[in-house]
Amino acid sequence: MNSKDIYILAIESSCDDTSAAILCNDKVLSNVVANQEIHTQYGGVVPELASRAHQQNIVPVVHQALAKANIDKKQLNAIAFTQGPGLMGSLLVGTSFAKAFAQSLDIPLLAINHMQAHILAHFIDDDDQKKPSFPFLAMTISGGHTQIVKVSSYFDMEVIGETMDDAIGEAFDKSAKILGLPYPGGPLIDKYAALGNPKAFQFPKPKAPELNFSFSGLKTAVLYFIQKNLQENPNFIQEHLNDICASLQYTIVGIVIDKLKKASKNTGIKHIAIGGGVSANSGIRKALIDGEQKFGWKTYIPKFEYTTDNAAMIGIVGYLKYLEKDFSNEKTTANARFKL
Ligand code: KG4
Ligand code: ZN
Repeated sequence: MNSKDIYILAIESSCDDTSAAILCNDKVLSNVVANQEIHTQYGGVVPELASRAHQQNIVPVVHQALAKANIDKKQLNAIAFTQGPGLMGSLLVGTSFAKAFAQSLDIPLLAINHMQAHILAHFIDDDDQKKPSFPFLAMTISGGHTQIVKVSSYFDMEVIGETMDDAIGEAFDKSAKILGLPYPGGPLIDKYAALGNPKAFQFPKPKAPELNFSFSGLKTAVLYFIQKNLQENPNFIQEHLNDICASLQYTIVGIVIDKLKKASKNTGIKHIAIGGGVSANSGIRKALIDGEQKFGWKTYIPKFEYTTDNAAMIGIVGYLKYLEKDFSNEKTTANARFKL
């Protein structure tokens, strides 16, 4: 232990995962995530239930993070928390907890943008991941977001494309629901896609201008396609599940790669990083890696535990902000629509 080491407790509660992490500088000592199973039976996240579950989870999760890191709360130098964007009721639980804890320990508070954190997760010091060099393009793809961001430095980020309707994760999850799969269906589509023929069926690629995305039309196309085929064959889904998933995933991957190619061409940037839950998708990962050969890209895919919602990514931004002395005060409030 070095006397210059900075210990940060980070808290993430923007959606349906309650997470706490301890970082020593840019290294993660612990990263505890409590998922909320309760939402599965409703086919999606129920905001009121999410905030109640955060209230139940937050104290045990923070305790566990401290214990796993073998750190006493008196050793902490600052507390970082997700200020937004996210569900208001969920954000308020983390915000209130962080403010009260920081005040009681008399240490600084660091308010963090969740989307910035998905991007800066690449800078966590971990042997299993490489750090991008500036400038790079970051594509954040999750159940709530779909963005392409030009990253010129840690805190100089410009959104150059985003979804105009559904997020990419919703395209996966809502299509999965139409196929009768449980929530969240994204990982299941990925699993069945591996066994199917991606050219078996054709789905349209909804048009969106410039570097923006549109996914709501795809979900509707899947719905009509399934309804039509079920009329002719009531067992259509069971008999063709792998091929439907493979074709759907092939379409979504195609949309993503088309936009990344355009973004890379427009900006002249060939370093491409991804983040967010959907970056776990094997089709997207493979297409990105293929892009290294095909288009001369250098790609960065974070470790799985830093792609889905987690507090370690909040902690790394907290550490970078701590170095800049960019602290918040007790008047800071949650911001559900916090922009990058
Ligand atoms: O980042 P995340 O954990 O939570 C937020 O939405 O912020 O992302 C969750 C999303 C869900 O839509 C889930 O279906 C999707 O990520 N997802 C996947 C895969 N793993 C998770 N989608 C496609 N393929 C996957 N392997
Ligand atoms: Zn997220």
